[in-house]
Amino acid sequence: MNHFTSLENLDLQLIRELVDDAVNFKRKKACPNLSNHYISNLFFENSTRTKLSFEMAEKKTGMEIIYFDAESSSVKKGETLYDTVKTLNSIGVECFVIRHNQDRFYEDLISRFDVPIINAGDGCGDHPTQSLLDLVTIYEEFGTLNGLNIVIAGDVVHSRVAHSDAKILTRFGSEISFATPEFWRDSSMTMGSYVSLDSVLPNADVVMLLRNQNERHKQQYDEKNYLQQYGLTKERTAKMKPSAIIMHPAPINRNVEIDENLIEAPQSRIFTQMTNGVFARIAVLNYVFNS
Ligand code: CP
Repeated sequence: MNHFTSLENLDLQLIRELVDDAVNFKRKKACPNLSNHYISNLFFENSTRTKLSFEMAEKKTGMEIIYFDAESSSVKKGETLYDTVKTLNSIGVECFVIRHNQDRFYEDLISRFDVPIINAGDGCGDHPTQSLLDLVTIYEEFGTLNGLNIVIAGDVVHSRVAHSDAKILTRFGSEISFATPEFWRDSSMTMGSYVSLDSVLPNADVVMLLRNQNERHKQQYDEKNYLQQYGLTKERTAKMKPSAIIMHPAPINRNVEIDENLIEAPQSRIFTQMTNGVFARIAVLNYVFNS
């Protein structure tokens, strides 16, 4: 039995195997059989992609989903996360996919439960299944995760995607830089360099945009002029290498992080990321039950 809470505690060989598994599940249209396992998706923060692509992965592997809705649950009466998990585990749920606004919420759970806990995003901490689908997308495109120039642009300090991706892509030997306004720099990040988007675009293989996380901001910023100052405009894409790709975890603030005409442009892999998310999550479910 394995948990899947962060890529940091997994060795590179295993992560490569998960990437390969996801690519193979996608290419062969074949899935492991996990029927007769009961799973719950506990989302205490909003989600479209992560929640529903987990659900798709669970259905494709034949799992039984025990549905949970935080808004209509006893969480509204003050039930703790531990008590919710303990309750569902007591009635037979064997695996939990959890998104929660508390950084590292999973630490308490993995020391107290003997069933897999999968982190679907913890506060401003990590988003390991998003990182895995990003690795799958980059690997499919370039055939390697090593030696690439990757610029991560936008709201770095609030982004669990930036944190997870920067750490794992650095471990794989790619060069990370951050293009972010001064007020969204993250002093805790020990890797990568801070650059202007204009200066780094001609050498970038991947332009990874982030969502501006307005719900986490304590201070207002100039959203109206953000695109021209820091975002990906048509003029800026003209500086990109023809082989370079655009990524964004979504949801997207159209015409803030990116000109909306670029979202489905030939260089964009934004919807490929979403497709790959299903197969990356099948690989994770297979890992926690079968490895
Ligand atoms: N990328 C991502 O985590 O999207 P959701 O918040 O919609 O799950």
